[in-house]
Amino acid sequence: MDIVRTKDAVRRAVASERAEGNRIGLVPTMGSFHEGHLSLMRLCKERAGFAVVSLFVNPIQFGPGEDLGSYPRDEERDAELASGAGVDLLFVPSAREMYAPGSSTYVEETGLGQGLCGVSRPGHFRGVTTVVAKLLNIVQPDLALFGRKDLQQLMLIRRMVRDLDFKVEIAGSPVVREPDGLAMSSRNVYLDPRQRECAPRMYAVLMSTAIQIADGQIDLIAGLDKARREIGQQTEGRLEYLEALDQGLAAATDARDCAYLAAALQLGATRLIDNVLVPPGSTGDGPDG
Ligand code: PAJ
Repeated sequence: MDIVRTKDAVRRAVASERAEGNRIGLVPTMGSFHEGHLSLMRLCKERAGFAVVSLFVNPIQFGPGEDLGSYPRDEERDAELASGAGVDLLFVPSAREMYAPGSSTYVEETGLGQGLCGVSRPGHFRGVTTVVAKLLNIVQPDLALFGRKDLQQLMLIRRMVRDLDFKVEIAGSPVVREPDGLAMSSRNVYLDPRQRECAPRMYAVLMSTAIQIADGQIDLIAGLDKARREIGQQTEGRLEYLEALDQGLAAATDARDCAYLAAALQLGATRLIDNVLVPPGSTGDGPDG
């Protein structure tokens, strides 16, 4: 696996692979790899001859007071893991390489990004869509892969790609979890032992609620109310939101339209997000792809 730090070096490597007839895949990341990232990398290598991973802690998607400074970073460990997952090229740009001094152009999706995480993290999704648009322009992959763990992010990127005519296939991949159900996240290392013990209960409640709603055992609104109460009580955290969503991520008003339950929980200083499919075994592929 090669490690490169400049856009030019990426473009050169990709051009020569393309000339040899290879399909190019991209997995954008902020590093601190866990099995969730590695599953995307393996899938990328399976589906494209040349797998590119970007590792960039993107400053413009962090709000003031968020964890940009303390975000876990370990390039050496990440490079080893990426190489083991079959990655061909690791792109590790500096902030200066990614953003020319005086950068003043952003890509902003103005619909899907307003609700859910967009409420408590203003500017976050604008930072995500901007950096992903840049990475798609730099790498020009045939395929780019994102985890369904960040469901709203995945849907927003699909929307951006559709609206702005990027020529790339966006593939989503299932949430990878710890054995106790907690969705893997680079931020889980912030949890103290007590919080770590409580954290999986959010997923447990989401799952049991999804099953009850899908089976018609409980009315949608009553099910959401009960789940909100249970998560608050069982995790000792502050529930930011728990919503029933349709395939397009609008609020579902009827159990038949409900495709996802999605939640965000503030547990001490750590913000956790998660979502489950309704019914739990469904494919999770919405109309956006
Ligand atoms: P990051 O949090 O590093 O995540 C990189 C990719 O891994 C995203 O597509 C995310 O959805 C996926 N991922 C994270 N945890 C996962 C899990 N438990 N199961 C499956 N997939 C998981 O998301 C970002 O970085 C950034 O916003 C980025 C898109 C790179 C833009 O800066």
